[in-house]
Amino acid sequence: MIPFWVAGKARTGADELVVTHPYDGRVVGTTSWATPEQVETAVAAAAEVAEEAAALPAYVRAAALDHVSATLAERADEVARLITAENGKPLKWARAEVGRAVSTFRWAAEEARRFSGELQRLDTDPAAAGRLALVKRVPRGPVLGISPFNFPLNLVAHKVAPALAVGAPIVVKPAPATPLSALLLGEILAGTQLPAGMVSVLPVPNERAGDLVADPRLPVVSFTGSGPVGARIRAAVPHKHVTLELGGNAAALVCADWATDEDLDWAATRIATFSNYQAGQSCIAVQRVIAHRDVFDRLRERVIARVEALRTGDPADEATDVGPLVSEDAAKRVEAWVSEALAAGGTVHTGGVRDGASYAPTVLTGVPADARVCAEEVFGPVLVMAPVESDRAGFAAVNDSAYGLQAGVFTHSLQTAFAAHRALRVGGVIIGDVPSYRADQMPYGGTKGSGEGREGLRSAMDDYTEPRVMVLTNIDI
Ligand code: SIN
Repeated sequence: MIPFWVAGKARTGADELVVTHPYDGRVVGTTSWATPEQVETAVAAAAEVAEEAAALPAYVRAAALDHVSATLAERADEVARLITAENGKPLKWARAEVGRAVSTFRWAAEEARRFSGELQRLDTDPAAAGRLALVKRVPRGPVLGISPFNFPLNLVAHKVAPALAVGAPIVVKPAPATPLSALLLGEILAGTQLPAGMVSVLPVPNERAGDLVADPRLPVVSFTGSGPVGARIRAAVPHKHVTLELGGNAAALVCADWATDEDLDWAATRIATFSNYQAGQSCIAVQRVIAHRDVFDRLRERVIARVEALRTGDPADEATDVGPLVSEDAAKRVEAWVSEALAAGGTVHTGGVRDGASYAPTVLTGVPADARVCAEEVFGPVLVMAPVESDRAGFAAVNDSAYGLQAGVFTHSLQTAFAAHRALRVGGVIIGDVPSYRADQMPYGGTKGSGEGREGLRSAMDDYTEPRVMVLTNIDI
């Protein structure tokens, strides 16, 4: 039985949690659900250690984070294979995820070393002559991290690493479908010199998560997952500091000036790859492609050719591009949404076929904007293409969404890039590439239905802390 981690100690619970491979249903590993008493121990330990954790010197926090980064790098192959086995994402994408987690922890160590606060001079009025403010950020308190199945390692890292960087204890509830990568991370964290209560990683059934969310000893809740669950968390704890990363229906806009064969080849390759990576199960996977009518037909034929060239199958095969979704139910939902789009007048150019938990990479056109494959987060390997009459109309089409996480804009024009940056109501605009680009140190999060707050190391460290000012008097500034 694979243990979970309560205040740095390996534990097992009363009821088994069996994790199966999405591709063939075989058992990947068996862990257990934490009992309510074990959850209580984890939360109480986090609360108890909070003051000590906040006072830890930067070198101690940074050393622990560097240790995790280095250990993940050493064990990269093992970790990647575990991610593939429990999540079903192709090994090449699992390896990419491990590489990212290595840098997420490394960045956190670097940020921990420079997280110093600021000085603000107050002698801007005669009455405040000789006064100086020192603004340091202090942890709001222990963090509850609730992570999703689609990046079972790196999205846990994005909760744990900034918490440790600022000296905040954290209790992690990993996704029930993919807890094993998080538990392996818990094992690595248990090998650091941090005080034991600082980290707990334990499987908790979703039905019991409400108690954790409501627990006053966890004043910060960092959640990545579905919109409805995020909205329930927001409503349940209005007085808490909540960060929500809730996904989207990300668009790539291809402008009129992105018109050479080379331009369109690049855009098509990136679009085909990033609408289907991890079977589309990324909040910033390309779901909508909006292209100026002048380039639309040439782009469409290229995208279809590249989507058809993607290799599907066993995710453990190094050559596989697209594996299964996380479960057969998830693939059935995608199948139902595509059927609905076709019934509403859409055309399928390739794909549109389900086999168990796998869904073939699919390209659609002629789909009404209110069909769920356009308007909701499809979280599957499905791409909807539509032409627009102008780049400005393209901005409006990108914004015609209940979500606003990231957008990609293919243009060579600096003016268009700045206009897009101003006009698009999203958390990030990627120029010359797909919306799926994410560097782990940059602010990441959304507007509208995509959530609130930002991840990315420094941004999350700001979210997990609050400013505390000390005003000095009679200072010879
Ligand atoms: C997500 O699905 O929100 C995370 C995307 C990423 O980290 O690349």
